[in-house]
Amino acid sequence: MYLGLDLGTSGVKALLIDADQRIIGSTDGSLSVSRPHAGWSEQNPADWIRATEEAVAGLIKSHGDAMKRLRGIGLSGQMHGATLLDSDHAVLRPCMLWNDTRSHAEAAALDGDPRFRQITGNIVFPGFTAPKVEWVRHNEPEIFARTAKILLPKDFLRLWLTGETVSEMSDASGTAWLDVAGRRWSEDLLAACHLTESHMPSLVEGTAVSGRLRAELAAAWGVEQVVVAGGAGDNAASACGMGTVREGAAFVSLGTSGVLFAANASYLPNPESAVHTFCHALPGAWHQMGVILSATDSLNWLTGITGRSAADLTEELGKSLRGPNGVFFLPYLSGERTPHNDAMVRGAFAGLSHQSDRTALTQSVLEGVAFAFRDNLEALRAAGTQLSRVTAIGGGSRSRYWLKAIATSLELPVDVPADGDFGAAFGAARLGLIAAENADPFAVCSTPATAETIEPDKTLTGAFADAYQHYRALYPAIQGATS
Ligand code: XUL
Repeated sequence: MYLGLDLGTSGVKALLIDADQRIIGSTDGSLSVSRPHAGWSEQNPADWIRATEEAVAGLIKSHGDAMKRLRGIGLSGQMHGATLLDSDHAVLRPCMLWNDTRSHAEAAALDGDPRFRQITGNIVFPGFTAPKVEWVRHNEPEIFARTAKILLPKDFLRLWLTGETVSEMSDASGTAWLDVAGRRWSEDLLAACHLTESHMPSLVEGTAVSGRLRAELAAAWGVEQVVVAGGAGDNAASACGMGTVREGAAFVSLGTSGVLFAANASYLPNPESAVHTFCHALPGAWHQMGVILSATDSLNWLTGITGRSAADLTEELGKSLRGPNGVFFLPYLSGERTPHNDAMVRGAFAGLSHQSDRTALTQSVLEGVAFAFRDNLEALRAAGTQLSRVTAIGGGSRSRYWLKAIATSLELPVDVPADGDFGAAFGAARLGLIAAENADPFAVCSTPATAETIEPDKTLTGAFADAYQHYRALYPAIQGATS
């Protein structure tokens, strides 16, 4: 048996698979986010342990016999958070999460030092780890002075599980301290942040053994000799779950935030268009990723305004894709990463008329997110990635209408996987299996069967392409007006 533990933003998911990768059971432990000031987003690391204990206890209760046969654990986690520990590994302050934007000035300052883009292959985004620690250095110098180790969220969970301070390549890529081509910490970039390699955990590949379950936990769980794999940041872990591991494979994720993820066999950076270029969880593999900050969050925002559920709103559009109607929505409710790298811009409707009813607004919100994905596709293309199809995942992919709009906007077929749970926890469990059995990573990370392929609507691709050009012209127009 192999356990995937995915430390998300709203909860921890524990998922157990057997040697044939059949899902035996899964449980959740809940988490909440504290937002004490505008732009702040924090969690207490002790809550991650509590939620993990809750989820694991649930699995032991429901699948006690299977859990006794546990051999490997894989970790997945929300990326970028800064967990600061003193020399006794005590937590010094709440963790500043991936969506905490308070350090945008520090991010811009680091990004102004050309070594960061050169060595990491990425823009230093406000969400990344390094600017957060710079913020602490400027605003909480006594905490910075006591900081002995900086861990990413799932790596803090690993410390609790194994007693080891270890990270892996995919999550470490989102710190702004990793030499992403060389798969090692950059002493230069750490020094630019007044840090040394001693502040960092050691690094393994996501598929490698990072440690063993502590004796105390093994006794409490009733298991023996359990290895903990390096694991992955949540997007790379999802990719392992979906089998998005070989050159040319890609997924579009319609979650709170939206991600267009492509696997690469080589390192293809393109910081100019705000593409993320990270190490994959598998050795010798990298990935590119365009990130939009409000995907299903945009539709959720509209449900709040209209008092209708997301399902009701999308149902009102009917089954066939409508042509763009002149109303545009820019989904920048909390700024945007790819392609604009603009934490301050805010969303907008444009082209409203007396005829613009609720249905027109819903249509424009779905299209706006579809056009934001087209922006991401263009950014990946500019970085040398050619895609011929994408697989859809995430809660928003339940809307066939939305998938049709995305297929038509991207002019690519969108595959919908057969029913199943191929998310980050499943990917993490696969990494646990690979590490425990020394299995072939590419053989284990296979792709699920496709239930249905949504083709672009050929009668509307021209109209969507024209509308996309209008959409693109709107960002420069609202940029100054909303920030
Ligand atoms: C990736 C990112 C998000 C978080 C969400 O760069 O910020 O996908 O990992 O958990």
